[in-house]
Amino acid sequence: MDVPKNIFKKHQAQTFPFPSCIEIESANGSYITDINGKQYLDFVAGVSACTLGHSNSIIIDAVKEQLDKYTHVMVYGEYIQPPQYKLAQLLADNLPGNLSTTYFVNSGAEAIEGAMKLAKRATGCSEIISCRDSYHGSTQGALSIMGNEEHKAKYRPLLPNCNQIIYNDVESLLNITKQTAAVVIEPIQGGTGFVSPKNNFLQKVREKCNETQTLLIFDEIQTCFGRLGTLFGFEKYNVIPDILCIAKGMGGGMPIGAFISSWELMNLLTFEPKLGHITTFGGHPVNCAASLATLEYLLSANTMKEVEQKEQLFRTHLHHQKIKEIRGSGLMLCIEFENEELAKEVVEESLEKGLILFYFLFTKTAIRITPPLIISEKEIIEGCNIIKGILEA
Ligand SMILES: Cc1ncc(COP(=O)(O)O)c(C=O)c1O
Repeated sequence: MDVPKNIFKKHQAQTFPFPSCIEIESANGSYITDINGKQYLDFVAGVSACTLGHSNSIIIDAVKEQLDKYTHVMVYGEYIQPPQYKLAQLLADNLPGNLSTTYFVNSGAEAIEGAMKLAKRATGCSEIISCRDSYHGSTQGALSIMGNEEHKAKYRPLLPNCNQIIYNDVESLLNITKQTAAVVIEPIQGGTGFVSPKNNFLQKVREKCNETQTLLIFDEIQTCFGRLGTLFGFEKYNVIPDILCIAKGMGGGMPIGAFISSWELMNLLTFEPKLGHITTFGGHPVNCAASLATLEYLLSANTMKEVEQKEQLFRTHLHHQKIKEIRGSGLMLCIEFENEELAKEVVEESLEKGLILFYFLFTKTAIRITPPLIISEKEIIEGCNIIKGILEA
């Protein structure tokens, strides 16, 4: 008889040859439990998605309350649904005036797709510039602006007129011209192992975009909803984009994304032709309810204020001669090792010892730490001790 692992491997499409295959029973707070009762401390949070931890009662209650009322009632944008408009209002209340209007979608990649379309529509230009080594999603538009040829080559032809600058390289900003519809950039570059902006790079990108009347799109799919200790990453770097893309952590574990801009820009999608961007399930009321609960919690609790202190705790407790560097910011940290073997060994042995870590898309010598924001100091120390124990051995 087929065991679940065989069914999983045979009937569920696989993305990676060696999935960890933990068979999940339940998840709570910072822990995931498998069917044998083994508990794993989760330093990954579904890749920056489970902002308030697993099975947080605040989110579960919001979801249940919405489920009892209605689920999907109509394609996005037709009916007035409280979870959607309340979330849009609360986002607007906590964003600068030019980011007043939210279009809800289902994922990060979709947010990027919508933002790229909006930028083309608004400027009448088609060139989109992104950064070398960036990742913005796996759909074809998002893939077209991904900054890594290895992952793109077999899917060409992709969108024309997608060009690149180099993150943190001011000279490469000369590639941004009046023909550029938009520059898409992550405030902290994810795929290469959480590379932060240096020497006011983001400000310089903003200035160049102002000069060429190019729209600046921030991909905050991973940095949004408190991960850096501020609600959005741009607050930390004092640069306001024209279009903001968010997803992952905004759903508190439920699937939702959004692109946000001014009412004037967004309104372009309503006319000539009408229905400029449409989605059936975008802004699903249950997911909006989960996101609204997450946002309300973040705005009222101390969670975001504690992020910096927790980052320091990680940095202190991960001090080790075999760790070359700790990059990133807030609870978006990258541990860089001497080589790929050591990074792999740490991830695999940690799993055995009950600690979940994960890799990066492009950098093989590093591992990611993106725990739930509600992780406790005790849990941070517990996980760091597991990592250090492996390095000692
Ligand atoms: C920076 C960034 N942009 C876009 C995406 C794509 O998001 P999704 O997987 O929800 O489509 C991701 C996902 O990892 C991401 O990290």
